[in-house]
Amino acid sequence: MAASGAGIAEAVRGRARGLPDALLYCRSSDYHHVTPRNHPANTLKSWGHPNYRMATSRQTRDRAAELRTELSRHIRLYHVLSQPEITDAEYDALMRELQSLEAEHSELQTPDSPTQRIGAPPASGFEEVTHTVPLLSLSNVFGPDDLSAWHRRITEFLEIDRFDMVCEVKIDGLAIALTYEDGVLVRGATRGDGVTGEDVTANIRTIKSIPLRLEGGDYPPRLEVRGEIYFPKTAFDAFNEERVANGLPPYMNPRNSASGSLRQLDSRETAKRPLAGWMYSIGWFEADGDLLPSTHSGRLEALTRWGFKVNPWTRSAASLEAVEKAHADALSGRDGLGYQIDGMVIKVDDIGYQDRLGFVGREPRWATAYKFPPEQVTAILDEIRVSVGRTGALTPYAYFEEGVHVGGVVVHQASLHNEQDIRRKGIAAGQRVIVQRAGDVIPQVVGPAPGETPRDDYTLPDMCPVCGEAVLHDEDEAVVRCVNGRCPVQSQRLIEHFAGRGSMDIEGLGEKMAVILFNEKLVGDVADLYTLGGHREKLIEMERLGEISVDNLLAGIEASKSQPLSRLLSGLGILHVGGENAELLAGRFGSLKGLQDATGDDLTAIDGVGPRIAASVVDWFSHEGNQQIVDKLIAAGVDPREEMREPEDLPWTGLRFVVTGRMESYSRREAQAKIKSLGGTVSSTVSGKTSFVVVGAEPGSKYDKAVRLEVPILDEAAFLQKLDKEEGAS
Ligand code: IVH
Repeated sequence: MAASGAGIAEAVRGRARGLPDALLYCRSSDYHHVTPRNHPANTLKSWGHPNYRMATSRQTRDRAAELRTELSRHIRLYHVLSQPEITDAEYDALMRELQSLEAEHSELQTPDSPTQRIGAPPASGFEEVTHTVPLLSLSNVFGPDDLSAWHRRITEFLEIDRFDMVCEVKIDGLAIALTYEDGVLVRGATRGDGVTGEDVTANIRTIKSIPLRLEGGDYPPRLEVRGEIYFPKTAFDAFNEERVANGLPPYMNPRNSASGSLRQLDSRETAKRPLAGWMYSIGWFEADGDLLPSTHSGRLEALTRWGFKVNPWTRSAASLEAVEKAHADALSGRDGLGYQIDGMVIKVDDIGYQDRLGFVGREPRWATAYKFPPEQVTAILDEIRVSVGRTGALTPYAYFEEGVHVGGVVVHQASLHNEQDIRRKGIAAGQRVIVQRAGDVIPQVVGPAPGETPRDDYTLPDMCPVCGEAVLHDEDEAVVRCVNGRCPVQSQRLIEHFAGRGSMDIEGLGEKMAVILFNEKLVGDVADLYTLGGHREKLIEMERLGEISVDNLLAGIEASKSQPLSRLLSGLGILHVGGENAELLAGRFGSLKGLQDATGDDLTAIDGVGPRIAASVVDWFSHEGNQQIVDKLIAAGVDPREEMREPEDLPWTGLRFVVTGRMESYSRREAQAKIKSLGGTVSSTVSGKTSFVVVGAEPGSKYDKAVRLEVPILDEAAFLQKLDKEEGAS
């Protein structure tokens, strides 16, 4: 069956005679077509071409199909079910047979073929993928009190007494979204920032526990499955040793190595790593007829049926006691697992409830992560140092010269909160202390290690370690602050914060550079960064910086102009405005000016923005100095726009509601969430500005006031009708 030289030669002559492409590589004698490796026809897209199918004998096609099915089955037996039926050598022989068939008949090479798992030649980069439905994060609970508060919020929201939950282990890997069309894996994307991720399909295909084709047949024609990719613990150390031997830096922890492995541009490299994945949910699906199971647990069963690896450690729980029991079990079983987990995820089982509960910001109300207590280690505390923050507050922190290995990373600093905290815990420099780090949280010093004598004589310095001026002890706030308006540290810190990773991410502008720029009076506030180009010569001469680093810095500053609005807002250092809040504000107001013009009411109208954040934003923009910064930024061309989530398009934008009394269909909170989701605002007092008062059973004085002020009143039926109309329209 092998391609003969004559065949190719004839094909080339055929091309010269202008024969259609599909026939080009067919030998007239046997119709087995051959395709040179680099021919465009030899891509995955060509596999279904009807002319190609014609060119291969039925027998060959059947054998290839049989091999694909067999190999897929054995891969699943080994990697998903841990029940191999054949030896590695037998498996290799089957694989080689399929590979050689596909080499001869490229049209047999389907995207779901097990041969695709060995990886493809390097890509130049990853394509960006906008997720059809964003990938969210989880809120956390740390103990029984948090847990019962979470549970209560749900019962109150839904006005129910109880609900079923599913507990799962929280895998410490990285999230992935897999799209299947007609049962075939067509795309694998990383979570990224939740809205856009990277297309890592070629790499995903190399992970053997991920099905390339689904089984069972009862799957929707299009669906997205979500889960967590991880690097097994056992392989991790050996893998790192090999890296070090090859002169490469070791990975910090299995999670980083999973992430690094999945983001290899050469998927053949990914194929060499023992990645695996546990799938835990369906992101979205499109189906004509049959719907999916209406519970999360039912959907996990469906995922298992379709061939996914679903974590066997799943517990149903109907009460908080059962959740606590599951959490204790997960914790005690943690070390025996072959992968790292950092807690337990609790989910509302009923999908109908999940839909009603919806989200707050980026977190679903219907799930939460019950974290494990943090890992603790002991270390010598070399020094207690003091830093001065953006607001002038003096904060003591522990310094470890050698570094401490805890929670999967090496830390040199750990937070100590404040003076009272250090005394209460009995910590002193030179002691052996207990250090802990919970997940992504900053490490902390818990107290002296057993056997050490606690000491309670620590005092913060009386003078600002930066400017040398006397500091102010604010007893109420338990904060010691440098109140010297000219203390350079606050401005410096803000510049550093502005350039930081979570904000404008300006390469080359860290703490040292911020100090230099500020002290040399080149940059007084963050907006001055964008006119720094005018001082290029001075910079080069000045601080042993050199031309290259100065130009890199200037390029970094220039590039930061295209950072999204949310990052710019985070960078400004407005109290309570960072990360998610900044995104909420950016998405709603679209520009710096848009936010500047927002009123407190405009702000609190956003689902997830409360009065505290609103007040802080309004306050920040009311300061003249800050207005100047905004003007300077805009003048320098730093004016990112975000596509507004069309507030004016929302049907109830500008309408103010008051909800009173008890309703049959919705709890008050649920009704309020609905109103906000349609753009309306909810307030607690009826006034002349109120657009509608929604009145349930047994309303109180708000109803009387509404009647008195002649505010339109909606009873439950009218409210539901109005809701239906708008939700149907949007
Ligand atoms: S459900 C709505 N289940 O944890 C959020 N997530 O902090 C849906 N994770 O990025 C997530 N194990 O990748 C869920 N059993 C599990 C999980 C899990 C790990 C990760 C997930 C997400 C992060 C959320």
